[in-house]
Amino acid sequence: MQLKIYKDHGSSSDAAASEIIELVKNKPNAILCMASGETPRLTCKLLVEKAIAQKVDLRHITFIGLDEWVGIPPENDGSCYHFFHTEIFKPLNFSADQVHLFDALSGNLEEECLKMDATIFEKGTIDLMIVGIGMNGHIGFNEPGVSFNNYSHVIDLDEITISGGQKYFKTPATLKRGITIGLKHLQESKKVLLMANGTKKAGVIKKTVQGEITNEFPASIMQTHTNGFVMIDEEAATLLDHKK
Ligand code: PGA
Repeated sequence: MQLKIYKDHGSSSDAAASEIIELVKNKPNAILCMASGETPRLTCKLLVEKAIAQKVDLRHITFIGLDEWVGIPPENDGSCYHFFHTEIFKPLNFSADQVHLFDALSGNLEEECLKMDATIFEKGTIDLMIVGIGMNGHIGFNEPGVSFNNYSHVIDLDEITISGGQKYFKTPATLKRGITIGLKHLQESKKVLLMANGTKKAGVIKKTVQGEITNEFPASIMQTHTNGFVMIDEEAATLLDHKK
């Protein structure tokens, strides 16, 4: 794992967007797995700008959504579905068949997980995974205590995820379970970028980069990834022990 500290969130987002552009230039049918949320929003905006300015066509990639809130309909603007449609799919004219998001309203969530895993295995390996980090150290909905060996799965959400998740919703949402890509997929991805910004994330970044590797703090798995990059701004780096 490598740590990359950028001056501000704009610079790290610009670097992440450029990563995607370069990947697609070299491999037009790449597999990209991305998180939604506040952290990657600017990356998405810059990706759209760069793709249009540089005439890079992303319509041959396979796009995998990292997770979804179980029971939240896609039209709800707090859903991950809504985020990706607004930020990426619509502006870049993606087709439905290149996009793979969990159906969080499915009557058979286990089957949704198997479907997602089959899609990933059929297409090959995830080329690039871009994730954020929650205030409990989760990645996607890989909550504290999760196995590092899970592929896609359904999970009961942690209290911090339930309370923190309300920020995405206009009216209070009932959040109980999540459906998510597992950490085994992360370990098998060719490259992983974990992004974080702001002083609010400084504590979890310290644990991610310099803490014990434990499933009680899922993001610590980043330390084990040989092509993993923790990309943060200076504010999120304030608690790091620079002597290490
Ligand atoms: P955020 O969410 O990017 O909105 O801070 C991160 C997360 O909870 O995974």
